[in-house]
Amino acid sequence: MVRFLLNDTPVSLSTAEANQTILQFLRETRELTGTKEGCAAGDCGACTVVLAELSSCQQRLHYAPINSCIALLSSLHLKQLICVEHLSEHQQLHPVQQALVEHHGSQCGFCTPGFVMSMFALYHNTDAVKRHDVEYALSGNLCRCTGYRPIIDAALSVCNNVVADNFKAQQATTISALLALRSSADAPQKQLTKNNSTQTANKDNPAINGAGLLMPTSREALQHCMKNYPDAPLVAGSTDVSLTITQQFRHYPTLISLTQIAELKTIVHTQTLVKIGAACTLDDLHQLCCKYYPTLTELIERFASLPVRKQATLGGNLVNASPIGDLPPLMLALKARFIIDNGAEQRTVAARNFYTGYRETALPKGFWLSCIELPLLQLDQHLAAYKVSKRFEDDISAVCAVFIVTADKQHNITALSTGFGGMAATPAVALDFEQHMAGHNLLDTQSLKHAKQWLADTFSPINDVRASALYRQQLVANLWHRFVLQYQNQTLEKTPDKIHNKQIATRVRYHA
Ligand SMILES: Cc1cc2nc3c(=O)[nH]c(=O)nc-3n(C[C@H](O)[C@H](O)[C@H](O)COP(=O)(O)OP(=O)(O)OC[C@H]3O[C@@H](n4cnc5c(N)ncnc54)[C@H](O)[C@@H]3O)c2cc1C
Ligand code: FES
Ligand code: FES
Repeated sequence: MVRFLLNDTPVSLSTAEANQTILQFLRETRELTGTKEGCAAGDCGACTVVLAELSSCQQRLHYAPINSCIALLSSLHLKQLICVEHLSEHQQLHPVQQALVEHHGSQCGFCTPGFVMSMFALYHNTDAVKRHDVEYALSGNLCRCTGYRPIIDAALSVCNNVVADNFKAQQATTISALLALRSSADAPQKQLTKNNSTQTANKDNPAINGAGLLMPTSREALQHCMKNYPDAPLVAGSTDVSLTITQQFRHYPTLISLTQIAELKTIVHTQTLVKIGAACTLDDLHQLCCKYYPTLTELIERFASLPVRKQATLGGNLVNASPIGDLPPLMLALKARFIIDNGAEQRTVAARNFYTGYRETALPKGFWLSCIELPLLQLDQHLAAYKVSKRFEDDISAVCAVFIVTADKQHNITALSTGFGGMAATPAVALDFEQHMAGHNLLDTQSLKHAKQWLADTFSPINDVRASALYRQQLVANLWHRFVLQYQNQTLEKTPDKIHNKQIATRVRYHA
């Protein structure tokens, strides 16, 4: 059973509906048609709903906006689903709706429920907001007729004057209801975990008879599910898998969800590395980057939109092995290590050995990606990640390039590590370039010219709708140039010749 609260009403759904999206459930099953379908692909935000989830201390709720058109029912388990119909009370608009009215933030109204829900999540998650916070929160919502200024004004005004709404008043009741759902869900799941070594699929056990959605809660239970249903796809955030259902009309008799396995959502810090569970969301990764890899935050913030990042997982992005995915190049440059698991045995695979062909990985049948070990940067390491796409926000990369340079005090390169997307059929490393650049000086103009040519010649990319091969080659060369200028700017800024270096910084902003 998928158990959740539809606003304040407990709902249990048969796991047979594994292929249904939350949007279909709301509109077609419950006739809650306030949530709109625009693009049906996670791009426009018309279908935004909010999932409230218990925080780890179980005393607070976190409100996450997600795109219901690309979220399968598995995303709802043990959460509260809030959609636009639930906001007004006693015929009174919710403060975020009222603010949109007062600021004239709606014309045709098609996008409005989505904006309302994104604003509602912001209203509950933050006390004071700045314009940047609003833009960040509304990054997944498109409006084609009103224009964004009145919408942003409405959000700024209401989110800086938060009053306790019905959801705040009901918080304790909602928390108790979610805890009750948890305990009722635990009973059959425990049975599955306990007996999983001996149980086999049978018609009498709806948890494992192949009727739709399986939601194991431990690695042993996951191993069991995968053994019994070797052809069933794994699904985490479902932002990729759902598109194969809604756009390619595939139907999966069985899906195995990774969302209930706590181990896959754990983050562990040591002195030298961070271990991040494969089912951690990209929003979790964003928070981690703010702390440990601040130069990566732009890359993560330009990954899709906030509702997608609240749902999509790191593991999903790495295993789908897209040659234009944004995180594989990062893993290659960081020399991350992937821990893969089959329930009986865990193995470590270097990120650099993981991508074996076009959308192919070294993950053997019966294994899943369990966690990723990211080494922390040393003081003499400089990391930069660049994403170039046709549209700045919410677009797939034409090229993604990541460089990590270790340099000595004289600015000589002692080690270089790279990762690229969009340059080959797989996420790629410029191995020869890395070796060749050892000993080169980062202030030497001749060396820069030479390096750019070398890098452009390293790849034979393809022409496609995002970029021509020539453009891609020129781009990687220019991104290296940009990296070197930024390095010079950062390191030389500590010297007295600041005016000269500020000029470099200005040029850097418009380069590439
Ligand atoms: C609107 C939109 C914008 C996007 N923008 C970007 C972007 O800017 N950059 C980018 O790189 N991608 C982008 N994507 C692609 C997608 O969101 C990401 O690849 C996402 O990280 C996939 O994660 P998920 O958890 O949703 O994967 P899912 O859809 O759940 O799974 C994807 C694949 O990975 C497998 N899988 C998932 N987890 C595991 C695991 N732990 N072990 C083994 N197999 C696993 C599944 O079986 C499936 O084959 C975008 C997608 C959408 C819809
Ligand atoms: S309908 Fe456009 S994001 Fe869902
Ligand atoms: S009000 Fe018409 S699309 Fe936004």
